[in-house]
Amino acid sequence: MKTIFEKAPAPSPRGTDERGLPLLEVRDLHVEFTTRDGVTKAVNGVNYSVGAGETLAVLGESGSGKSVTAQAIMGILDMPPGKIPQGEILYRGQDMLKMSGEERRKIRGRKIAMIFQDALSALNPVLTVGFQLGEMFRVHQGLSKREARHKAVELMDRVRIPAAEERVGDYPHQFSGGMRQRVMIAMALALEPDLIIADEPTTALDVTVQAQVMDLLAELQREYDMGLILITHDLGVVADVADKIAVMYAGRIVETAPVHELYRSPAHPYTRGLLDSIPRLDQKGRELYAIKGLPPNLTRVPSGCAFHPRCPRAQDICRADVPVLLPVTERDGVAPAGRASACHFPEETIHG
Ligand SMILES: Nc1ncnc2c1ncn2[C@@H]1O[C@H](COP(=O)(O)OP(=O)(O)OP(=O)(O)O)[C@@H](O)[C@H]1O
Ligand code: SF4
Ligand SMILES: [Mg+2]
Repeated sequence: MKTIFEKAPAPSPRGTDERGLPLLEVRDLHVEFTTRDGVTKAVNGVNYSVGAGETLAVLGESGSGKSVTAQAIMGILDMPPGKIPQGEILYRGQDMLKMSGEERRKIRGRKIAMIFQDALSALNPVLTVGFQLGEMFRVHQGLSKREARHKAVELMDRVRIPAAEERVGDYPHQFSGGMRQRVMIAMALALEPDLIIADEPTTALDVTVQAQVMDLLAELQREYDMGLILITHDLGVVADVADKIAVMYAGRIVETAPVHELYRSPAHPYTRGLLDSIPRLDQKGRELYAIKGLPPNLTRVPSGCAFHPRCPRAQDICRADVPVLLPVTERDGVAPAGRASACHFPEETIHG
Protein backbone atom coordinates (compact mmCIF):
# COMPACT_ATOMS: atom_id res chain seq x y z
CA MET A 1 0.00 0.00 0.00
CA LYS A 2 1.21 3.49 -0.79
CA THR A 3 1.78 5.59 2.30
CA ILE A 4 2.14 9.31 2.72
CA PHE A 5 5.86 8.77 3.03
CA GLU A 6 6.06 7.53 -0.55
CA LYS A 7 3.71 10.07 -2.07
CA ALA A 8 5.33 11.76 -5.04
CA PRO A 9 4.76 15.48 -5.50
CA ALA A 10 2.03 16.02 -8.11
CA PRO A 11 3.07 18.08 -11.13
CA SER A 12 0.78 21.08 -10.91
CA PRO A 13 1.83 24.35 -12.52
CA ARG A 14 0.74 27.20 -10.23
CA GLY A 15 -1.36 24.85 -8.14
CA THR A 16 -3.95 24.00 -10.78
CA ASP A 17 -4.71 20.57 -12.21
CA GLU A 18 -4.75 19.52 -15.86
CA ARG A 19 -8.20 21.14 -16.27
CA GLY A 20 -6.85 24.41 -14.87
CA LEU A 21 -8.81 23.99 -11.63
CA PRO A 22 -7.49 24.78 -8.16
CA LEU A 23 -7.97 22.25 -5.36
CA LEU A 24 -10.52 24.36 -3.59
CA GLU A 25 -12.48 27.38 -4.63
CA VAL A 26 -14.95 29.26 -2.45
CA ARG A 27 -17.38 31.36 -4.52
CA ASP A 28 -19.64 34.07 -3.20
CA LEU A 29 -20.11 32.27 0.11
CA HIS A 30 -22.63 33.66 2.58
CA VAL A 31 -23.16 32.35 6.11
CA GLU A 32 -25.59 33.78 8.62
CA PHE A 33 -26.65 32.92 12.15
CA THR A 34 -30.07 33.58 13.58
CA THR A 35 -29.60 34.87 17.12
CA ARG A 36 -31.78 36.63 19.70
CA ASP A 37 -30.39 39.99 18.50
CA GLY A 38 -31.25 39.31 14.86
CA VAL A 39 -29.42 37.78 11.91
CA THR A 40 -25.61 37.85 12.18
CA LYS A 41 -24.14 38.08 8.68
CA ALA A 42 -20.86 36.36 9.51
CA VAL A 43 -19.73 35.71 5.92
CA ASN A 44 -20.92 38.08 3.16
CA GLY A 45 -19.78 36.89 -0.24
CA VAL A 46 -16.33 35.39 0.29
CA ASN A 47 -14.27 34.29 -2.73
CA TYR A 48 -10.93 32.56 -2.46
CA SER A 49 -9.04 29.64 -3.91
CA VAL A 50 -6.04 27.48 -3.09
CA GLY A 51 -4.09 25.13 -5.31
CA ALA A 52 -1.82 22.14 -4.75
CA GLY A 53 1.45 23.20 -3.16
CA GLU A 54 0.08 26.64 -2.40
CA THR A 55 -0.38 28.38 0.95
CA LEU A 56 -3.18 30.88 1.32
CA ALA A 57 -3.09 32.91 4.53
CA VAL A 58 -6.44 34.28 5.67
CA LEU A 59 -5.96 37.29 7.86
CA GLY A 60 -8.22 39.62 9.80
CA GLU A 61 -9.26 40.80 13.25
CA SER A 62 -11.33 38.71 15.61
CA GLY A 63 -14.88 38.15 14.37
CA SER A 64 -14.15 38.82 10.69
CA GLY A 65 -15.48 35.41 9.59
CA LYS A 66 -12.24 33.46 9.07
CA SER A 67 -13.24 30.44 11.12
CA VAL A 68 -16.86 30.41 9.99
CA THR A 69 -15.68 30.22 6.36
CA ALA A 70 -13.42 27.29 7.29
CA GLN A 71 -16.24 25.58 9.20
CA ALA A 72 -18.48 25.91 6.14
CA ILE A 73 -15.79 24.23 4.01
CA MET A 74 -15.39 21.40 6.54
CA GLY A 75 -19.13 21.00 7.06
CA ILE A 76 -18.88 21.59 10.80
CA LEU A 77 -21.00 24.72 11.09
CA ASP A 78 -23.66 24.76 13.79
CA MET A 79 -26.78 24.46 11.59
CA PRO A 80 -29.05 25.80 13.00
CA PRO A 81 -28.44 28.55 14.09
CA GLY A 82 -26.11 28.75 11.06
CA LYS A 83 -27.31 28.74 7.46
CA ILE A 84 -25.62 29.01 4.05
CA PRO A 85 -28.13 31.03 2.00
CA GLN A 86 -25.83 31.40 -1.00
CA GLY A 87 -22.51 30.31 -2.44
CA GLU A 88 -20.44 27.42 -3.74
CA ILE A 89 -17.57 25.44 -2.23
CA LEU A 90 -15.84 23.68 -5.10
CA TYR A 91 -13.45 20.80 -4.44
CA ARG A 92 -11.66 20.03 -7.72
CA GLY A 93 -14.48 21.80 -9.54
CA GLN A 94 -17.38 20.04 -7.78
CA ASP A 95 -19.68 21.90 -5.43
CA MET A 96 -19.61 20.17 -2.05
CA LEU A 97 -22.80 21.96 -1.02
CA LYS A 98 -24.65 20.05 -3.74
CA MET A 99 -23.11 16.61 -3.12
CA SER A 100 -24.79 13.70 -1.35
CA GLY A 101 -23.78 13.10 2.27
CA GLU A 102 -21.74 10.08 1.23
CA GLU A 103 -19.81 11.98 -1.48
CA ARG A 104 -19.05 14.76 0.98
CA ARG A 105 -17.79 12.33 3.61
CA LYS A 106 -15.22 11.02 1.14
CA ILE A 107 -13.74 14.51 0.92
CA ARG A 108 -14.15 16.14 4.31
CA GLY A 109 -11.74 14.74 6.86
CA ARG A 110 -9.94 12.69 4.20
CA LYS A 111 -9.04 14.93 1.27
CA ILE A 112 -9.47 18.08 3.32
CA ALA A 113 -8.27 17.91 6.92
CA MET A 114 -8.35 20.55 9.62
CA ILE A 115 -6.01 21.50 12.44
CA PHE A 116 -7.53 23.47 15.30
CA GLN A 117 -6.02 25.94 17.72
CA ASP A 118 -6.72 23.95 20.85
CA ALA A 119 -5.29 20.45 20.58
CA LEU A 120 -6.26 19.57 24.16
CA SER A 121 -9.96 19.94 23.50
CA ALA A 122 -9.72 18.35 20.04
CA LEU A 123 -8.09 15.17 21.42
CA ASN A 124 -9.89 12.66 23.62
CA PRO A 125 -8.34 12.87 27.13
CA VAL A 126 -9.09 9.25 28.09
CA LEU A 127 -7.54 7.59 25.02
CA THR A 128 -3.83 7.32 24.29
CA VAL A 129 -2.34 9.37 21.51
CA GLY A 130 -1.29 6.19 19.72
CA PHE A 131 -4.83 4.81 19.87
CA GLN A 132 -6.31 8.03 18.47
CA LEU A 133 -3.80 8.17 15.63
CA GLY A 134 -4.17 4.45 14.95
CA GLU A 135 -7.95 4.72 14.88
CA MET A 136 -7.68 6.73 11.65
CA PHE A 137 -6.06 3.71 9.99
CA ARG A 138 -8.30 1.09 11.63
CA VAL A 139 -11.53 2.86 10.72
CA HIS A 140 -10.64 4.22 7.30
CA GLN A 141 -8.21 1.62 5.99
CA GLY A 142 -9.22 -1.49 7.95
CA LEU A 143 -5.72 -2.07 9.37
CA SER A 144 -5.21 -4.42 12.33
CA LYS A 145 -4.47 -2.98 15.78
CA ARG A 146 -0.81 -3.86 15.41
CA GLU A 147 -0.44 -2.34 11.94
CA ALA A 148 -2.32 0.79 13.06
CA ARG A 149 0.01 1.19 16.04
CA HIS A 150 2.99 0.87 13.74
CA LYS A 151 1.58 3.59 11.46
CA ALA A 152 0.91 5.80 14.49
CA VAL A 153 4.58 5.57 15.50
CA GLU A 154 5.63 6.32 11.93
CA LEU A 155 3.47 9.44 11.87
CA MET A 156 4.72 10.58 15.28
CA ASP A 157 8.27 10.25 13.95
CA ARG A 158 7.28 12.17 10.86
CA VAL A 159 6.09 15.15 12.90
CA ARG A 160 9.28 14.84 14.98
CA ILE A 161 7.87 13.78 18.30
CA PRO A 162 10.98 12.46 20.09
CA ALA A 163 10.97 8.81 21.28
CA ALA A 164 7.75 8.07 19.41
CA GLU A 165 7.95 4.33 20.12
CA GLU A 166 7.96 4.95 23.89
CA ARG A 167 5.40 7.77 23.82
CA VAL A 168 2.77 6.11 21.65
CA GLY A 169 0.98 4.82 24.79
CA ASP A 170 0.91 8.23 26.53
CA TYR A 171 -2.24 10.29 27.04
CA PRO A 172 -2.71 13.81 25.57
CA HIS A 173 -2.15 15.57 28.93
CA GLN A 174 1.30 13.94 29.18
CA PHE A 175 2.44 15.91 26.11
CA SER A 176 3.53 19.57 26.08
CA GLY A 177 1.42 22.07 24.12
CA GLY A 178 3.82 22.04 21.17
CA MET A 179 3.95 18.23 21.08
CA ARG A 180 0.15 18.01 21.25
CA GLN A 181 -0.06 20.34 18.28
CA ARG A 182 2.31 17.99 16.44
CA VAL A 183 -0.10 15.15 17.26
CA MET A 184 -2.89 17.23 15.69
CA ILE A 185 -0.78 17.71 12.58
CA ALA A 186 -0.11 13.96 12.48
CA MET A 187 -3.87 13.24 12.70
CA ALA A 188 -4.52 15.67 9.86
CA LEU A 189 -1.82 14.02 7.72
CA ALA A 190 -2.86 10.44 8.40
CA LEU A 191 -5.20 10.00 5.46
CA GLU A 192 -2.93 11.81 3.00
CA PRO A 193 -5.10 14.89 2.42
CA ASP A 194 -4.75 17.22 -0.56
CA LEU A 195 -5.55 20.24 1.54
CA ILE A 196 -5.09 21.22 5.17
CA ILE A 197 -6.97 24.04 6.85
CA ALA A 198 -5.07 25.24 9.92
CA ASP A 199 -7.11 27.61 12.10
CA GLU A 200 -4.72 29.57 14.33
CA PRO A 201 -2.59 26.43 14.75
CA THR A 202 0.07 28.05 16.94
CA THR A 203 -1.80 30.77 18.84
CA ALA A 204 -1.93 28.81 22.09
CA LEU A 205 1.84 28.13 22.09
CA ASP A 206 4.96 29.97 23.33
CA VAL A 207 6.67 32.10 20.70
CA THR A 208 9.65 29.78 20.13
CA VAL A 209 7.43 26.70 19.93
CA GLN A 210 5.12 28.59 17.55
CA ALA A 211 7.96 29.01 15.08
CA GLN A 212 8.93 25.32 15.28
CA VAL A 213 5.39 24.11 14.68
CA MET A 214 4.88 26.57 11.83
CA ASP A 215 8.16 25.48 10.22
CA LEU A 216 7.10 21.84 10.47
CA LEU A 217 3.73 22.56 8.89
CA ALA A 218 5.31 24.53 6.05
CA GLU A 219 7.87 21.80 5.43
CA LEU A 220 5.25 19.02 5.28
CA GLN A 221 3.08 21.12 3.02
CA ARG A 222 5.94 21.56 0.55
CA GLU A 223 7.07 17.98 0.78
CA TYR A 224 3.65 16.53 -0.03
CA ASP A 225 2.57 19.32 -2.36
CA MET A 226 -0.57 19.92 -0.31
CA GLY A 227 -2.66 23.06 -0.38
CA LEU A 228 -2.69 24.90 2.95
CA ILE A 229 -5.17 27.47 4.21
CA LEU A 230 -3.57 29.16 7.18
CA ILE A 231 -5.92 31.25 9.30
CA THR A 232 -4.28 33.74 11.59
CA HIS A 233 -4.37 37.30 12.88
CA ASP A 234 -0.59 37.43 12.96
CA LEU A 235 0.90 39.13 9.89
CA GLY A 236 4.38 38.32 11.17
CA VAL A 237 3.75 34.56 10.92
CA VAL A 238 2.51 34.59 7.33
CA ALA A 239 5.38 36.52 5.73
CA ASP A 240 7.66 33.47 5.64
CA VAL A 241 5.19 30.73 4.79
CA ALA A 242 2.34 32.08 2.63
CA ASP A 243 2.24 32.45 -1.15
CA LYS A 244 -0.81 34.67 -1.13
CA ILE A 245 -2.99 36.43 1.39
CA ALA A 246 -6.70 37.13 1.67
CA VAL A 247 -7.54 39.87 4.17
CA MET A 248 -11.01 39.64 5.72
CA TYR A 249 -13.09 42.38 7.28
CA ALA A 250 -16.68 42.06 8.50
CA GLY A 251 -17.31 38.84 6.60
CA ARG A 252 -15.79 39.95 3.27
CA ILE A 253 -12.45 39.66 1.55
CA VAL A 254 -11.17 43.23 1.30
CA GLU A 255 -7.81 42.52 -0.31
CA THR A 256 -6.03 39.60 -1.96
CA ALA A 257 -2.43 39.65 -3.13
CA PRO A 258 0.72 37.58 -3.50
CA VAL A 259 2.43 37.87 -0.12
CA HIS A 260 5.31 40.15 -1.14
CA GLU A 261 3.06 42.54 -3.07
CA LEU A 262 0.82 42.91 -0.07
CA TYR A 263 3.71 43.76 2.26
CA ARG A 264 5.32 46.08 -0.28
CA SER A 265 2.23 48.09 -1.13
CA PRO A 266 -1.13 47.34 0.47
CA ALA A 267 -4.08 48.42 -1.68
CA HIS A 268 -6.67 48.64 1.10
CA PRO A 269 -6.53 51.04 4.08
CA TYR A 270 -7.45 48.20 6.45
CA THR A 271 -4.46 46.13 5.30
CA ARG A 272 -2.26 49.20 5.60
CA GLY A 273 -3.51 49.66 9.17
CA LEU A 274 -2.76 46.02 10.02
CA LEU A 275 0.77 46.32 8.59
CA ASP A 276 1.45 49.57 10.40
CA SER A 277 0.47 47.97 13.68
CA ILE A 278 3.20 45.28 13.58
CA PRO A 279 6.25 46.10 15.72
CA ARG A 280 9.36 46.48 13.52
CA LEU A 281 12.96 46.13 14.64
CA ASP A 282 14.14 48.91 12.33
CA GLN A 283 11.71 51.37 13.88
CA LYS A 284 12.37 50.73 17.55
CA GLY A 285 11.03 53.42 19.82
CA ARG A 286 8.41 54.53 17.30
CA GLU A 287 4.89 54.55 18.66
CA LEU A 288 2.86 51.71 17.20
CA TYR A 289 -0.10 52.57 15.04
CA ALA A 290 -3.46 51.12 16.07
CA ILE A 291 -6.52 51.05 13.82
CA LYS A 292 -9.04 53.24 15.63
CA GLY A 293 -12.37 51.83 16.76
CA LEU A 294 -13.65 48.27 16.75
CA PRO A 295 -14.91 45.87 14.08
CA PRO A 296 -18.68 46.24 13.52
CA ASN A 297 -21.45 44.22 15.06
CA LEU A 298 -22.36 41.83 12.26
CA THR A 299 -26.09 42.09 12.92
CA ARG A 300 -25.78 45.77 11.86
CA VAL A 301 -23.01 46.06 9.27
CA PRO A 302 -22.35 49.74 8.37
CA SER A 303 -23.67 51.00 5.01
CA GLY A 304 -21.36 51.18 1.99
CA CYS A 305 -17.85 50.08 2.89
CA ALA A 306 -18.10 48.34 6.27
CA PHE A 307 -14.70 49.80 7.19
CA HIS A 308 -15.76 53.44 6.68
CA PRO A 309 -16.31 54.37 10.36
CA ARG A 310 -12.65 53.48 11.03
CA CYS A 311 -11.03 54.50 7.77
CA PRO A 312 -8.76 57.57 7.60
CA ARG A 313 -9.54 57.91 3.85
CA ALA A 314 -13.34 57.63 3.98
CA GLN A 315 -15.30 59.90 1.58
CA ASP A 316 -19.04 60.26 0.92
CA ILE A 317 -19.02 57.49 -1.67
CA CYS A 318 -17.65 55.09 0.98
CA ARG A 319 -20.73 55.56 3.15
CA ALA A 320 -23.09 54.97 0.21
CA ASP A 321 -21.63 52.28 -2.08
CA VAL A 322 -20.28 48.87 -1.21
CA PRO A 323 -16.85 48.57 -2.91
CA VAL A 324 -16.47 45.43 -5.02
CA LEU A 325 -13.28 43.33 -4.92
CA LEU A 326 -11.62 44.33 -8.22
CA PRO A 327 -8.16 43.82 -9.77
CA VAL A 328 -5.71 46.54 -8.80
CA THR A 329 -3.71 48.36 -11.47
CA GLU A 330 -0.33 49.72 -10.47
CA ARG A 331 1.03 53.08 -11.69
CA ASP A 332 2.65 51.48 -14.76
CA GLY A 333 -0.76 50.13 -15.80
CA VAL A 334 0.11 46.53 -14.86
CA ALA A 335 -2.38 44.49 -12.82
CA PRO A 336 -0.29 41.84 -11.03
CA ALA A 337 -1.97 38.41 -10.97
CA GLY A 338 -4.04 37.78 -7.87
CA ARG A 339 -4.07 41.42 -6.75
CA ALA A 340 -7.47 42.79 -5.89
CA SER A 341 -8.91 45.32 -3.47
CA ALA A 342 -12.43 46.15 -2.29
CA CYS A 343 -11.84 49.87 -1.82
CA HIS A 344 -13.01 52.89 -3.82
CA PHE A 345 -9.45 54.30 -3.70
CA PRO A 346 -6.99 51.42 -4.17
CA GLU A 347 -4.36 53.30 -6.23
CA GLU A 348 -4.34 56.24 -3.81
CA THR A 349 -3.85 53.77 -0.96
CA ILE A 350 -0.92 52.06 -2.71
CA HIS A 351 0.84 55.33 -3.46
CA GLY A 352 -0.21 57.28 -0.39
N1 LIG B 1 -22.51 29.33 16.35
C1 LIG B 1 -22.62 30.66 16.19
N2 LIG B 1 -23.75 31.32 16.51
C2 LIG B 1 -23.86 32.66 16.34
N3 LIG B 1 -22.89 33.46 15.84
C3 LIG B 1 -21.74 32.86 15.50
C4 LIG B 1 -21.52 31.44 15.65
N4 LIG B 1 -20.26 31.14 15.23
C5 LIG B 1 -19.73 32.33 14.84
N5 LIG B 1 -20.60 33.35 15.00
C6 LIG B 1 -20.35 34.76 14.67
O1 LIG B 1 -19.76 34.86 13.40
C7 LIG B 1 -18.82 35.93 13.36
C8 LIG B 1 -17.54 35.48 12.75
O2 LIG B 1 -16.90 34.57 13.63
P1 LIG B 1 -15.55 33.79 13.30
O3 LIG B 1 -15.41 32.78 14.37
O4 LIG B 1 -15.53 33.32 11.91
O5 LIG B 1 -14.46 34.92 13.47
P2 LIG B 1 -12.89 34.79 13.27
O6 LIG B 1 -12.51 35.70 12.15
O7 LIG B 1 -12.49 33.37 13.14
O8 LIG B 1 -12.36 35.45 14.63
P3 LIG B 1 -11.16 34.96 15.62
O9 LIG B 1 -9.94 35.60 15.08
O10 LIG B 1 -11.59 35.53 16.93
O11 LIG B 1 -11.11 33.48 15.62
C9 LIG B 1 -18.69 36.44 14.78
O12 LIG B 1 -19.43 37.62 14.90
C10 LIG B 1 -19.32 35.36 15.61
O13 LIG B 1 -19.92 35.89 16.75
S1 SF4 C 1 -13.84 52.25 0.39
FE1 SF4 C 1 -13.51 54.16 1.47
S2 SF4 C 1 -13.90 53.68 3.62
FE2 SF4 C 1 -13.61 51.76 2.54
S3 SF4 C 1 -11.49 51.32 2.79
FE3 SF4 C 1 -11.65 52.41 0.84
S4 SF4 C 1 -11.33 54.56 1.36
FE4 SF4 C 1 -11.72 53.49 3.27
MG1 LIG D 1 -11.46 32.08 14.39
